Amino acid sequence: MIKLLIDFIQFLYGVAPLLLSLAALVLLSVLLSKSIKKHAVVYYTVMAIPFALVAIPFIGRLFGVEMFNFNRIWFLGGIMRDYIHAGTLGFPLLIIIMYMGALNPKNSTVKKLLGIRKELSIMSGFPILTHSLIRVTNNFPDAIRFFTDNGEYMASTKITNTFGAGITNFSFVLGVVMLALFIPLWVTSFDFVHKRMGNIKWKKLQRWSYVLYAMLFIHSAGLQAGFMLNPRERESPKPAVEVTATADTVRNSNNREKRGLPKQAATGERNAKNAPAVNGSRTEAAKPTAQNEHRQSRGFADIQVGTKAKRYIHTASLFLIFGSYLYLRLRKKKLKKLK
Ligand code: HEM
Repeated sequence: MIKLLIDFIQFLYGVAPLLLSLAALVLLSVLLSKSIKKHAVVYYTVMAIPFALVAIPFIGRLFGVEMFNFNRIWFLGGIMRDYIHAGTLGFPLLIIIMYMGALNPKNSTVKKLLGIRKELSIMSGFPILTHSLIRVTNNFPDAIRFFTDNGEYMASTKITNTFGAGITNFSFVLGVVMLALFIPLWVTSFDFVHKRMGNIKWKKLQRWSYVLYAMLFIHSAGLQAGFMLNPRERESPKPAVEVTATADTVRNSNNREKRGLPKQAATGERNAKNAPAVNGSRTEAAKPTAQNEHRQSRGFADIQVGTKAKRYIHTASLFLIFGSYLYLRLRKKKLKKLK
């Protein structure tokens, strides 16, 4: 039963990481709300550690000082990559902060979360700043080149869809605008800055967070659209859903992807190289053999969802999250006006 639950959670994390991270972080924030309020500095420190582990060697390398790359350490590397990616920690935290303003503050769960909104904002800053530091350095120069020297850009990349590349690079440039907006919003979340500023000025500035949320949606949906139009190399066409040989092979394959390597075909797929893949069913060559029969399981871990299908699910989640936020926010405003 526990294995089935773990398999199911792993499956959900593979298919809809944003929704799962969001659910997990809401639960953790509610359960730990008192502790977060009381020991905020401890939480900030914990969140700042990966930031330091990524930022210090990264900045060092930019200045020619070769430092140890913590990303290479097993398990810690995975956590750091998720942290840089922003999708599993920074993004869900921003969504929680954003949503709080649209929900009924009298609700006891919302009350708990509203009590730690400032703390969650500060915590979200560390992964977002890490993400920005890496992406600005790695992606921004090329994004500018796309707009300033398009011919040279297109000639030096394997990209085939110019419109897709335009959306992607626009989203990168927007990321920098977001960063310029995020930094003052984040810095003024700290009590000592807030007090120095005064409440009126602070509230005025915080209104810009709505602009940030809108840009956040465009940035993430734009990147998904761009990647769909120009699939990255490791995103080779695959059947949307496919049951592969064993749970082990799927896990190995997912671990390879997390390490930034191309996904390795599962044993069954490799055996069935020339056999047609059948959606939702085992391929001939992936049928149980004497050697692997004891490893056969037909649990959730056996279901492999293709990258394209995952992108559609992710994009649908973005529309669901931001669409429902917009609806709730407008409804709240309308109700306030009526009172
Ligand atoms: C405040 C600033 C930023 C925020 C809040 C932010 C947020 C995000 C989020 C939430 C995602 C995940 C989207 C998804 O999974 O649908 C993402 C992805 C991405 N962002 Fe940003 N971003 C920021 C700045 C930047 C900047 C400045 C760049 C580069 C110029 C950038 C480049 C990327 C890239 C390449 C991805 C896709 C790969 C990945 O997930 O790391 N971002 N960003």
